[in-house]
Formats: sequence, C-alpha cells, structure tokens
Amino acid sequence: DKTEQHAEKLAAALAAVKYVKDGDVVGLGTGSTATLAIEELGKRVKEGLNITAAASSIRTEKLAKFYGIKVLDLGLLSSIDISIDGADEFTESLDLIKGGGGALFREKIMATLSKNSIIVTDSSKKVKKLGAFTVPVEVIPLAYRYVFDQIIQLGGKGVLRKADDQTFITDNGNYIIDADFGLIDNPAQLNSSLNQINGVLTSGLFIGLTSKVIMSVGKELIVFE
Ligand code: A5P
Repeated sequence: DKTEQHAEKLAAALAAVKYVKDGDVVGLGTGSTATLAIEELGKRVKEGLNITAAASSIRTEKLAKFYGIKVLDLGLLSSIDISIDGADEFTESLDLIKGGGGALFREKIMATLSKNSIIVTDSSKKVKKLGAFTVPVEVIPLAYRYVFDQIIQLGGKGVLRKADDQTFITDNGNYIIDADFGLIDNPAQLNSSLNQINGVLTSGLFIGLTSKVIMSVGKELIVFE
C-alpha cells in the first residue's frame, strides 16, 4: 500500500544520501523518491554539509533552493560527483525507463555527467524486462507527426502525453510521446533506434548510465551494481 511504498522510497533515499561527501557536486533527480533525498540533503546542508547541486528539472531546482541547497546550471558542468534519481522501471542489468515525470532529457544529461549515478526506488520498480511502463520519448513539437509515425515503424504505439487535458510541455518546451513497445528484448537497440529519428531529443531508456540501484523491500535494502 501507499504508506509502505513511501517507507520504502524513504529508506532508499536515505541510504543514497549517505554516499554524498563534503565538497561534492551533486546531481538532483526528479520525482517523489528523489524529492525525499533532496529533503534529507537539505537537512544535512543545514547541519554544515558543503555541496553544490545541479537540478534535473525546474521543479527540483525550486525544491533544492527552498531547502537552502546551492544550485548551479547543469549546462555549465562538465562533471558531477554523484547523482541521486528515481526510475520508473529497472532491471538487474541496470537498464532503466525514466521520464514518468517528464524530466528525462535533463536526467539523462545529469546521469551522463555523473561519476556515480545512484538510482533510488521502492520494490515496485524492479522488472525482468523493461516495457510494461511505456517509454517516454521527448519530441520537438514540429516533428511530432513524423516521430509518431516512425514509432509505429519500429513496432510501437505512441500516445501524446497530456496534463489536465492540455498537451504536456517539458522544461525544454517539447512534447512527450509515451510509446508502448510491449516487453523490450533489446533496450539498447531500441534506444539507439529512437534517438536516431530526427526530431527526437531523447528516449527514456537509460542504458549503461547507472552505477547502482538502491531498492528497498519492506525493511530490507538491496543494492544492485
Ligand atoms: C522523472 O522524469 C522520472 O524519471 C522519475 O525519476 C521517475 O518517474 C520516478 O519517480 P518516482 O520516484 O516518483 O516514482
């Protein structure tokens, strides 16, 4: 249930924050689990921890500033010491689907720059094969129809993401197509096929970008690395 899921998210988030050291540049993820890590980091900053952060969304940037964390522009950084983010699905081989919250592009840049990219999740996110959660694909609006058709060519079925009956707009001013490919046999190949379509900014498939996943199941923590 919800209370138990929240407890799992919190346990994973607290465990991840323990890896943050004084002086680190810290990448802050987006979503409910990453938010719990940001709150904890805020507490530690009040107690004297000295970090600078980069945010994976406008929402996260506001939150971090609210907690008194110094935030740098992600676009100015050439490397991040450690990042903490959530995921919508992950496998034991550390492939992920992200972007349920719409922040996939900045999250992917953040993960790419991170020396230590930690994913925090509750036990509902672990899957044998990715794909029950649809793959978010961020699209430049003017290429929408073209990309939609190309997704069909790749064997998928896309739905334009909405928020309150309006087209959902990302922090970068783009659309998201949530694409259903069924269970995905080769996520690396699908990721490169999607990323090769003109007009696609990036897909929500995160391949080879994760250092470890900290998952909480009930009272137990499991680390996949
Ligand atoms: C945001 O775009 C996503 O990638 C999130 O990281 C993902 O949706 C996980 O969110 P929760 O921690 O809220 O499940």
